[in-house]
Amino acid sequence: MRKRIIAGNWKMHLNHFEAVQTVRRFKNLMNEEVFQYEIVLCPSFTSLYVVSEEIKNTSIKLGAQNVFYEPEGAFTGEVSPLMLKALGCEYVIVGHSERRKYFWESDEMIAKKVIAVLDAGMTPILCVGENLEERQKGMEKDVVRRQFTAVFEGLDKEKADKVVIAYEPVWAIGTGVNATPEQAQEMHSFIRELFTRKYGHTEVSILYGGSVKPDNIYSLTSMPDVDGALVGGASIKAESFYEIIKNAYIGG
Ligand code: PGA
Repeated sequence: MRKRIIAGNWKMHLNHFEAVQTVRRFKNLMNEEVFQYEIVLCPSFTSLYVVSEEIKNTSIKLGAQNVFYEPEGAFTGEVSPLMLKALGCEYVIVGHSERRKYFWESDEMIAKKVIAVLDAGMTPILCVGENLEERQKGMEKDVVRRQFTAVFEGLDKEKADKVVIAYEPVWAIGTGVNATPEQAQEMHSFIRELFTRKYGHTEVSILYGGSVKPDNIYSLTSMPDVDGALVGGASIKAESFYEIIKNAYIGG
């Protein structure tokens, strides 16, 4: 389903005390305003419970940053989809480039995680995107096609319809250099075309991620194929995350 979403990926920031303070500040700023975007907060595992308590009775949704694909077992240090579901998570970020790069997550592993998240009744936010070298070589679409296909070749239409995709060019993550709205639009429309070719309709949410800030969110989200954002650094401060949501495009 095509839906407007702004998700905050807190990465490995904010302990659970700080997380509570941040959510409280954010709720005060939001002041029960209703936005056209679904707002999702993705704290670290250790803060999921306290954040879930803080956002009860609000429209804010909870997301996790990672998951393992088995439901339970001897997998020291891992967290299962069922555990996240029990905490009230509705979203799980899967295949973030930092997981691909630092934790050697393969396309195959990411595909298994997407299925596990769907089977547990949550929405995966599947991250795809090329690195700088790949873009400089003009290979960005090949990379994204490969990452897309690895996951979607194993998904029927019913499952695929529940996946949210985040295009996050690695060179734009945490660098302060966002993709231009035109670069984002070009890739988002390419991804939508891949989806349409396989499933016969265009209704998939595609978020942009990579140095999203209060002053560039409007131009990015006003592109026809950009349905929202996955925000890292600028989501950690309640004020800037709120500004991003306020400034996002809502017309059309
Ligand atoms: P950034 O991160 O907004 O800090 O660039 C985005 C992300 O990694 O999801």
